[in-house]
Amino acid sequence: MTTDQSETVRTGTDVVLEARGVTKHFPLRRTARDLFARKRRSVHAVDDVSLRLRRGTVTALVGESGSGKSTVARLLAQLYPLTSGEIRLGGEPVVAGRGRSFRRYVRRVQLIFQDPFASLNPVHTVRYHLTRALKIHDRAGSGDKELEQALADLLNRVQLTPPQQFLDKFPHELSGGQRQRVAIARALGADPQVLLADEPVSMLDVSIRLGVLNLLRDLKERLHLAILYITHDIASARYFADTTLVMYAGRIVEGGDSETVTQRPAHPYTQLLIASAPDPDRIVAQEEQEETGTGEPPSLIAPPAGCRFHPRCPKAMERCRTELPPRFDLADGQWAACWLYEGVGARSYENEGTGTRASAAGKEVSR
Ligand SMILES: Nc1ncnc2c1ncn2[C@@H]1O[C@H](COP(=O)(O)OP(=O)(O)OP(=O)(O)O)[C@@H](O)[C@H]1O
Ligand SMILES: [Mg+2]
Repeated sequence: MTTDQSETVRTGTDVVLEARGVTKHFPLRRTARDLFARKRRSVHAVDDVSLRLRRGTVTALVGESGSGKSTVARLLAQLYPLTSGEIRLGGEPVVAGRGRSFRRYVRRVQLIFQDPFASLNPVHTVRYHLTRALKIHDRAGSGDKELEQALADLLNRVQLTPPQQFLDKFPHELSGGQRQRVAIARALGADPQVLLADEPVSMLDVSIRLGVLNLLRDLKERLHLAILYITHDIASARYFADTTLVMYAGRIVEGGDSETVTQRPAHPYTQLLIASAPDPDRIVAQEEQEETGTGEPPSLIAPPAGCRFHPRCPKAMERCRTELPPRFDLADGQWAACWLYEGVGARSYENEGTGTRASAAGKEVSR
């Protein structure tokens, strides 16, 4: 790493999109009893979420169904107003707006959905979808020739080649993977800096998932995009993402580089996620499975006090029931919001495990 690059990383100037303490509560319709008790109940979908998306980096947001992942993506895409917190794009606070300011924002931050069939209009061709995206974002050029070139560039970029073979097809004439590539090409039509990909491969056949993930990785490298990759599959985060954040019941509970978080998960919830992910190389003994805890995610209308994971946590202590754990920093940028790590400095955590990691850290320092 050159001095310039390390300076950039340290000062965080490569951060494109940032969420600071972002919270979203969806108010529930009031029942007669609520009116009587003067209560306003709401779904605490996202609470105090802070994250940074950097240029040329994939950040995975992992968690089980209902943990608030899509809500985070929609908040970052400005599709919902925030209950509280702040979003910054290029260091500038984003002011919620419609019309021109929203369009300016969308040009830089694009969202890709899980189901490409639903996100493409079945009565329109690939040419229509892409031309529309280019025109909305003023990138269609000044004549037919320039438009054709821009369309071909988009399809080449998502590896749908030769472009002429795909331009006049309807969504139903494409495979699931090809449709998702068209949806990605449409997002690229805006020439964005950030792609928010909400479970972009979970509707696709297992055999073509890797191809689409590799395409996203290629875009990250060639176009220096900041990508948020939302998934419930923590194994794919290890393969594909540089950084992994783990979300539970509306809060981010652990973060760090993907290799560390998936190989040495610190938070008991991350450990549970990894233990329950199918892995043919690992046959988990019955007792070990029981030890990782079971149960359902909590209600988000009346979330548990203290740590939201405590009712399912095999390592829960008394204070976990009442006190919300702050974020504790561990080694190598890994952190966990768990009382187990109070007072466990980076060094002692590092020495706790195998020697491999300690020597890897040593290499970092001597570099
Ligand atoms: N528009 C809305 N109005 C009310 N509640 C909502 C709304 N959108 C989401 N929620 C609630 O917020 C919580 C988080 O939902 P979200 O869709 O963000 O979860 P998710 O992690 O994306 O789940 P999945 O993996 O199933 O897609 C859920 O309890 C959901 O019911
Ligand atoms: Mg979702």
